[in-house]
Amino acid sequence: MRETLGVALVGKRAGAFIAGFSATPGVRIVAVCERDASARDALGTRAGVSAEARYSDYGRMLADARPDAVAIGTPMDLHAEQSIIALGMGIHALCEVTAAVTINECRVLASTAQRAALSGVQYMLAENACFRRELVLVRALASSGRFGRLYYAEGEYLHDVKHLHRNADGTPTWRATWQVGKRGATYATHSLGPVLDWFGPDSRVETVACHGTGVWTDPGLPHDDSCLMICNLANGGLVRIRLDMMSNRPEGASWYQVQGTLGVYEAARGSAPHPVVWFGENAPDPKGSRRWGSLWDHEEALPGWMTGPLAQAATSAGHGGGDFWVAHTFADAILKGTPVPIGIDRALAYTVPGLVSEASIEAGGTPLRVPVI
Ligand SMILES: NC(=O)c1ccc[n+]([C@@H]2O[C@H](COP(=O)([O-])OP(=O)(O)OC[C@H]3O[C@@H](n4cnc5c(N)ncnc54)[C@H](O)[C@@H]3O)[C@@H](O)[C@H]2O)c1
Repeated sequence: MRETLGVALVGKRAGAFIAGFSATPGVRIVAVCERDASARDALGTRAGVSAEARYSDYGRMLADARPDAVAIGTPMDLHAEQSIIALGMGIHALCEVTAAVTINECRVLASTAQRAALSGVQYMLAENACFRRELVLVRALASSGRFGRLYYAEGEYLHDVKHLHRNADGTPTWRATWQVGKRGATYATHSLGPVLDWFGPDSRVETVACHGTGVWTDPGLPHDDSCLMICNLANGGLVRIRLDMMSNRPEGASWYQVQGTLGVYEAARGSAPHPVVWFGENAPDPKGSRRWGSLWDHEEALPGWMTGPLAQAATSAGHGGGDFWVAHTFADAILKGTPVPIGIDRALAYTVPGLVSEASIEAGGTPLRVPVI
């Protein structure tokens, strides 16, 4: 237990966590760190941080401001390095997705996080999709057996972000290298994270096969417009992940489905604007029938922390409340000395399959074993 937690925000995206940190008693944002001067000032002002506590250099910020925790929202290729530096200094780290961009980085991050844990210092992956109200409700229904034994699920991340691949002067951004500068499911955790958790808190992908459509809309980049990652889980389930950051589409969309022996859930999509569930006649569900029903008829299954006094504040924060709960649950766990909800093992369970998929797609879709790190 500790009374206070001083947090530093790193990279402008970490501003998404301000609402969740501000709603957690004992948390104070003590510094911000941003390379870009105008983004730094905007972030500092939003976070209520004085001019002296606004840094451009990460190492200097850590040494001068000595935060208890960092929230990292910088480009993907900096995630592992910045997390490792913080953890090595005894500073808790909350880091945006994905956890790392190579398998080797995953190994170093894992060993550093395991060493830090010996002195109570924690790492958490900021996978906000795992905190979306709808997906938390599906997880609660799955864990209480309402869908029966799960054996199939799907997750899709369809988001035309071509405008983020190049700067105004035409030079490539970090996304052009780390998200679409190679083939494979390079940004799969938003889809895989929540889906994997429905299969249980220790579920993991055992093998991955990855296939792509080829390049259609931006011949300047090698990334397939759509790619599919087929995952066989160690506990027997089959999961299909689709990643598409290139295709011409009207708006960003995430889609999910799960099938069990007793029931099924399908997220809203396109012309079907409401999430639905169906529980079969043998399901332990008095509302069972042969018709789809609204997922929201089962809201009583939501965990208490999501329906309590912070619910309103969470709803008005970003990504359907996901950003709020990421920050709040991280800070709350550190203050209470309890395990964070997405620790290093889950972070790697979400991240490593995507990295292995890069080799699979290059090998023509060959199924490859996902190492346990
Ligand atoms: N979870 C989500 O829903 C979600 C949404 C958007 C972005 N992201 C993640 O957030 C991260 C940032 O994405 P973005 O869209 O904000 O990228 P961006 O390119 O718009 O911004 C990155 C920022 O990091 C700053 N930066 C770069 N190096 C830095 C350093 N060493 N120290 C401090 N600041 C540094 C840059 O100046 C820039 O302002 C990525 O990992 C991305 O995947 C997650």
